[in-house]
Amino acid sequence: MMNPSQLNLVQRPRRLRRTDALRRMIQETQLTANDLIYPLFVMEGENQKVEVSSMPGSYRFTLDLLLKEVAEAYELGIPAIALFPMVAEEKKDNAGTESYNPEGLVQRVVRAIKQDIPEVMIVTDVALDPFSSKGHDGIVSDAGEILNDETVEVLVQQAVSQAEAGTDIVAPSDMMDGRIGAIRDGLDEAGFTQVGILAYSAKYASAYYGPFRDALESAPKFGDKKTYQMDPANAREALKEVALDVEEGADMVMVKPALAYLDIIQLIKSVTDVPVAAYNVSGEYAMIKAAGQKGWIDEKKVMLETLTSMKRAGADVILTYFAKEVALILR
Ligand code: PBG
Repeated sequence: MMNPSQLNLVQRPRRLRRTDALRRMIQETQLTANDLIYPLFVMEGENQKVEVSSMPGSYRFTLDLLLKEVAEAYELGIPAIALFPMVAEEKKDNAGTESYNPEGLVQRVVRAIKQDIPEVMIVTDVALDPFSSKGHDGIVSDAGEILNDETVEVLVQQAVSQAEAGTDIVAPSDMMDGRIGAIRDGLDEAGFTQVGILAYSAKYASAYYGPFRDALESAPKFGDKKTYQMDPANAREALKEVALDVEEGADMVMVKPALAYLDIIQLIKSVTDVPVAAYNVSGEYAMIKAAGQKGWIDEKKVMLETLTSMKRAGADVILTYFAKEVALILR
C-alpha cells in the first residue's frame, strides 16, 4: 500500500535537481570565456586610466595601459577585444574624416596590439559617431538628414584603413543601408579578403546606450538616431536586416542591445546559419553595477545569470564590459 501522503507521480523533475553533480551533468547552457568579446575604450595620452562615471569598473585607457588590459584579458581566455576611441573635439568634422586617418588613434592602437599580442582577435567599430562633430553615425545634410550613400563611402574608407592597420574583424555599427556589401567589396578590392565582417544587423534606437555615449562624449548634438537605428517595437524588421546583411557578405550578425531583446536573439538564431552575437550594452552593465553597489542585488550572480540568458536565447558570442570579471570567475 502506498503511503497516503505520497502522490502517485511517474515524472518528478526534481529528481534531476537533487545534487550538484547531477545538475552539472544535465546543464543545457554553458557560458565560457571563449564566448566573450571585451569592448574597450581608448584615449590619447600616457599612463592614464579614467573610470567612466556611469560605468563603475570600466575605464578609458591610454594605449600603454590598454596593452596591459588586453594582455590580461587574453590570458584569462578571452579571444577578442572590441575597440572604441575617444576622439578630441578638434579632430571631429561632419564627414568623420579622422576615422580613416592612417595615423588615427584606432589605427595606431591596432598596430600596437598586433605587435604586442598578435594572437588576440581585434574587432574595430565602423561608424562615424566618435569622429562626427554632430555626434551622428553618418554625414548630416544642411537639412539635418543623415545621408546614407555618402556615409557608406566614408565607412568603406574607414574599414579599409582599419584593415591596413591589421584589424581582424570590422564591425559596422552605423545602420546605413548597403554598407555591408560596400565594405565587403572595398576590403576585397584592397586585398583584405580574410578580414571578417561582424554586422550590427539588428541595432535598436535604445536608451541603453547612454553610459557608452558618456564614455566617449559621443552623444548626438541634435535629434536622435531613430532614422537609422531600429524601432524597439519591431521584430520582423530584424529578420529583414539580417537577411540583407548576410546576403551582402556579413560573416556574423549582431543583436544590440541584448537583455531587452532576448526574443530577437532567439528569432534570428532560428533563421540564420551564421554565428549570432549579442551586445550586453553599457546601460545593461550600469544597471547591474548600480544595484550591486547599493547592495540591492548580488552583482556577480546577476551578471552570470544575465549573460547565461543571452547564451540560452541563442547568442554564440557576447560583447560585454563584464568580460574580465566573468572570465576570472569561470577560470
Ligand atoms: C556607435 C555605437 C554605440 C554603441 C556601440 N557603437 C552607441 C550608439 O549607437 O549611439 C553602444 C554600446 C554600448 O552602449 O555599450 N556606433
